[in-house]
Amino acid sequence: MKILVTGGCGYIGSHTATELLEAGHEVIIVDNFSNSSPEVVDNIKEITGKDFEFYPINLLDEENFENVFKENFIDAVIHFAALKAVGESVEKPLEYYNNNIGSTLVLFRLMKKYNVNNLVFSSSATVYGNPITCPITEEFTLSVTNPYGRTKLIIEDMLRDICKVDKSLNVAILRYFNPVGAHKSGKIGENPKGIPNNLMPYITKVATGELKELNVFGDDYETHDGTGVRDYIHVIDLAKGHLKSLEKLNENPGLVTYNLGTGKGYSVFDLVNTFSRINGIDIPYKIVGRRPGDIAECYSDPTKANKELGWSAKYGIEDMCKDSWNFYRGK
Ligand code: WQD
Repeated sequence: MKILVTGGCGYIGSHTATELLEAGHEVIIVDNFSNSSPEVVDNIKEITGKDFEFYPINLLDEENFENVFKENFIDAVIHFAALKAVGESVEKPLEYYNNNIGSTLVLFRLMKKYNVNNLVFSSSATVYGNPITCPITEEFTLSVTNPYGRTKLIIEDMLRDICKVDKSLNVAILRYFNPVGAHKSGKIGENPKGIPNNLMPYITKVATGELKELNVFGDDYETHDGTGVRDYIHVIDLAKGHLKSLEKLNENPGLVTYNLGTGKGYSVFDLVNTFSRINGIDIPYKIVGRRPGDIAECYSDPTKANKELGWSAKYGIEDMCKDSWNFYRGK
């Protein structure tokens, strides 16, 4: 199939584009490098030995974005392109609503105009807010506590409304837990611009000495060691979940929603200690106050994706730590 991947030079987008190419799909990437770099295009070609169409445009630029649909017969869209820093979204809500919602509305208009009826949407476990318990199933109540999460929930609600009336559409909403790790080649991985918000890229920058020490945001949570517990999932497992979702859309299911996680929760200390043990690198840290908006525990029940997609995460926390370091130390 010919798949349009928006944000395809980003962390999860680039790994998914790589898996699509290796599975024999044709790929079109649209990316404006707001949180990625042009070298990723060549890295994907190097890993796969495959060529693909690339358009360096912003989805909000409707005229240029429409050319992608004019010049290609698109079978399905995987929509990653979005701003995704929780803290930044609190500081700049209008930028997040304009970018994340505005660009998605442009995409939906063009999909309708060019009769593209298959969509995989990159959502997030952040739509579960502060769950009353874990593991989390897709039936849990949805609630958001920051503008970034609200953009994801608004787009999910838009899709639920649209799919109620437009029966030609097949949509898979994928709620990611905490993506970490990198391609085994070490050529692509997570390399956010500036000071990382997320735990693993921060750890890798401490490992190289770029950052002095890790700030552990609180050790007084109701968890096994007091630090925050999350469901870390290898980005390759996550990418493969997207290919399984595309297969699911071929069954004309209408709108389906899946948690993509391992079903296991690991704490900050679990991740730091595993990273040190696997890579032989000490990670100095300091306990500081809780980060506003953080929750104690968040991990998935991935049973629905296991059963309906025939997908489950294969890699464990040790692979995630090894592969993250293998990518980042080579930067
Ligand atoms: C993980 C744990 C922190 C950094 C976020 C978004 C979510 C999704 C994934 C997009 C928490 C602790 C972190 C640090 C720390 N992104 N931590 N020191 O917050 O679970 O999820 O990224 O979809 O939407 O909310 O991930 O990696 O920021 O934090 O102690 O320097 O590590 O408190 O317990 P989070 P994270």
